[in-house]
Amino acid sequence: MEYTVKSGNPEKQRIGCVVIPVYASRKLSPSAKIIDKASNGYISNLVRRGEIEGDLGNTLLLHNIENTLCDRVLLIGCGKEKDINFKTFYKINHTMVKTLKTSGATEIASYLTEIPVKRKDINWKIQHSIEAIDEALYQFNQFKSEKQETRRPLRKFIFSVNGRGQLMQGEQAVRQGMAISAGIQLAKYLGDLPGNICTPSYLADQADELAKQHSKIKTTVLEEKDMEKLGMGALLSVSKGSREAGKLITIEYMAGDKKQAPIIFVGKGVTFDSGGVSLKPGAGMDEMKYDMCGAASVIGAINACAELQLPINLIGIIPTVENMPDGLATRPGDIVTSMSGQTVEILNTDAEGRLILCDALTYAEKFNPDVVIDIATLTGACIVALGAHPAGLLSNHNPLANDLLSAGQSSGDRCWQLPLWDDYQEQLDTNFADIANIGGKGAGTITAACFLSRFTKKYHWAHLDIAGVAWKSGKEKGATGRPVGLLTQYILDRLQTH
Ligand code: BES
Ligand code: MN
Ligand code: ZN
Repeated sequence: MEYTVKSGNPEKQRIGCVVIPVYASRKLSPSAKIIDKASNGYISNLVRRGEIEGDLGNTLLLHNIENTLCDRVLLIGCGKEKDINFKTFYKINHTMVKTLKTSGATEIASYLTEIPVKRKDINWKIQHSIEAIDEALYQFNQFKSEKQETRRPLRKFIFSVNGRGQLMQGEQAVRQGMAISAGIQLAKYLGDLPGNICTPSYLADQADELAKQHSKIKTTVLEEKDMEKLGMGALLSVSKGSREAGKLITIEYMAGDKKQAPIIFVGKGVTFDSGGVSLKPGAGMDEMKYDMCGAASVIGAINACAELQLPINLIGIIPTVENMPDGLATRPGDIVTSMSGQTVEILNTDAEGRLILCDALTYAEKFNPDVVIDIATLTGACIVALGAHPAGLLSNHNPLANDLLSAGQSSGDRCWQLPLWDDYQEQLDTNFADIANIGGKGAGTITAACFLSRFTKKYHWAHLDIAGVAWKSGKEKGATGRPVGLLTQYILDRLQTH
């Protein structure tokens, strides 16, 4: 999709369609008033007759309005003007795309940028319009024999800005929006790929692909024999039961000051989680192809930062394995030694995420990081605690947690903090090793984070449990691309403050 910005009156746009907001109850926006005036009251007449109320989700597509240069005008109901928040703004953009997809218009001038969204400026609205439009147009149809094709697909969106003075920053917002949205789309695509295609080696190829596309990115892949040499017994214990070889992928984007310690993102890359010998129930097990969404979000976020050529040092570390039960698989009760030297009793082979993450987190030490953030579809308990809205956040450093909370607020890709108190640590005690890999009844998300905290003592660390937010189930089943928005916002905010 092509995106640009432009300033100018709506009736003067020589284009396929102009999109205009209308508020409840029947209140015309400034751009609607301008068209109304040019057309001698055509819009206000329609509104008076009850053709559009202005409620959220309302649409009215009009053709060849007198004294306008566009072929169509799409009126979109936005609800009460003062109630519009970032969620409603997304919905409004979705409605626009759904309506225009089959309208025949290919080039669109959107005046939705004049909608007041609580605490958000024009740049935010441009950036998030792009994310919303791309999301509404996303389809995963690679494996469908018959693809739905539109004869005249949408080609271009032009966002209206207020006067020439806003053009420059508007263009910057377009660049930022397109880069972040592309990162989100990439993460969605990788997530939606099935486990027989998106294997650990497939993810490694994806990382190599990033290095090919961006000169500042370097990728290295450790094979199982390399990891054996490093003593990564925890990670290897998970991939043992699978025919797919486990890998540890490192993606280095070093575009910042040489002296600046890097930010590290660690993404859980379990390309399929059967549970191992502690096998999961059959219903819904297909969704465990999404157990690599942490890895996908790391790839997406680095891609966005590289695309924007941000002057930062950012490293992605992706431990990636398949969790399967076979004759070589780890048994419940097995004891393994992690790279840190700590021994782990594996009481449940389905708590595998923490086993691959702990070795990756120890490996991260060698880069002397400024901060380490891991992203993982780690616990079903997180869905019980928080549902599908925020990611779970746990951290050993409150300033870092606060930075993530605030990046979540401003991007709309939110997280919510849970306590990482010492009180929970004893749930990981066992008679037979240094630490057990499950914490028993209660606070499953917190005890999983407690497990990780034993391996992150040497740096500032935060953990994002994305089990509830990385994909949607049911009729709209599909990856969301979260938390690419949150991670890139965190990086952008840091560039402002550090
Ligand atoms: N990948 C799952 C977590 C998960 C489950 C995410 C369902 C989203 C939906 C993880 O590897 C897992 O199986 N966790 C176990 C941990 C338990 C054995 C302590 C869980 O949550 O049941
Ligand atoms: Mn599991
Ligand atoms: Zn898992």
